[in-house]
Amino acid sequence: MQKVVSGIRPTGNLHLGNYFGAVKNFLRMQEEYNCYFFIADYHSLTTHPTPENLHNNVRQVLAEYLACGLDPEKSTIYIQSDVPEVAELSLLMSMNAYLGELERTTSFKDKARQQPENVNAGLLTYPVLMASDIIMHNADKVPVGKDQEQNLEMTRKFAGRFNHIYKTDYFTIPQSFNYGEALVKIPGLDGSGKMGKSEGNGIYLADEAKAIQKKVMRAVTDSGPTEMNSPLTEPVQNLITLMEVVSTPDTVQYFRDKYASCEIRYGDMKKQLAEDIIKFNAPIREKIEAIKADEAYLSKVVAMGRDKARESAQKTLKDVRSIIGIKQF
Ligand code: TYM
Repeated sequence: MQKVVSGIRPTGNLHLGNYFGAVKNFLRMQEEYNCYFFIADYHSLTTHPTPENLHNNVRQVLAEYLACGLDPEKSTIYIQSDVPEVAELSLLMSMNAYLGELERTTSFKDKARQQPENVNAGLLTYPVLMASDIIMHNADKVPVGKDQEQNLEMTRKFAGRFNHIYKTDYFTIPQSFNYGEALVKIPGLDGSGKMGKSEGNGIYLADEAKAIQKKVMRAVTDSGPTEMNSPLTEPVQNLITLMEVVSTPDTVQYFRDKYASCEIRYGDMKKQLAEDIIKFNAPIREKIEAIKADEAYLSKVVAMGRDKARESAQKTLKDVRSIIGIKQF
């Protein structure tokens, strides 16, 4: 059976970008593949070295995974730092990753700009650790949003290079994956760019109805079309893209038509969008709260996932050590 690996950093609550870019695919994939879904807490230390809330963030994302419908009986759900084998694999893989290519990565350059006071080595080697997460279970497919495309390319490069250097075909070359073919980019509410945890432009699965309403009503639009059938401007296209994931096709078409005929009222459109997001979120939100309160269940899920993930990781590491030439006396 083909293998699937994907992860999310616990740097805040899950937002609609995480859901429609990644988690939605997880739900279907767990029915068809051997899946490993984890919480990337090592990765979160590159930007969020905050011991006072790390554990709570991990707990929150775990509860959110489960509330969305990830099933620990069907897939392996684990916390990255519970599987320290990945740190060793990452060390070994870093010997074949070159400084120049790591420095040229878009996400490294972005983060270096965003936190000039903390351009740490973990940021630089982020793609090596991510590649290790993936090849540790020899994944065939990696469900991610469009923003992770370059990291996946690096993963393929590192896996292929390892195979080449050691004259082996040990590592599968993984592919990024989305059921709809093209990887998804969910926009934020601020008129341009993707929805993100640090951008302050997101709607979270755990948001209450009031908060959603407030955020959507404040979303950036434009001053309205002045010519019939003019193309959508970026901020309006972004709202339509959000509608496309939470509203019915009829609703989306209605507002497209209103835009085309210059009769659009953004207040109405936002009201509808807020309503549909609230409807989408409500059942998940309720489950998050219930699951978070069940400490025994969370502990059981974590232990089960850790044991299954470590079994797979230990096997890979044993093979890799042997391929590299590390032998026991
Ligand atoms: P992270 O935590 O930023 O995001 C988790 C997942 O959500 C997707 N995503 C989006 N998709 C569409 N539109 C958006 N606006 C949007 N925002 C986030 C991301 O593409 C991702 O799939 N480096 C990864 C975590 C990671 C990982 C891995 C992923 C670590 N190791 C191994 C896959 C495999 C990250 O920072 O995702």
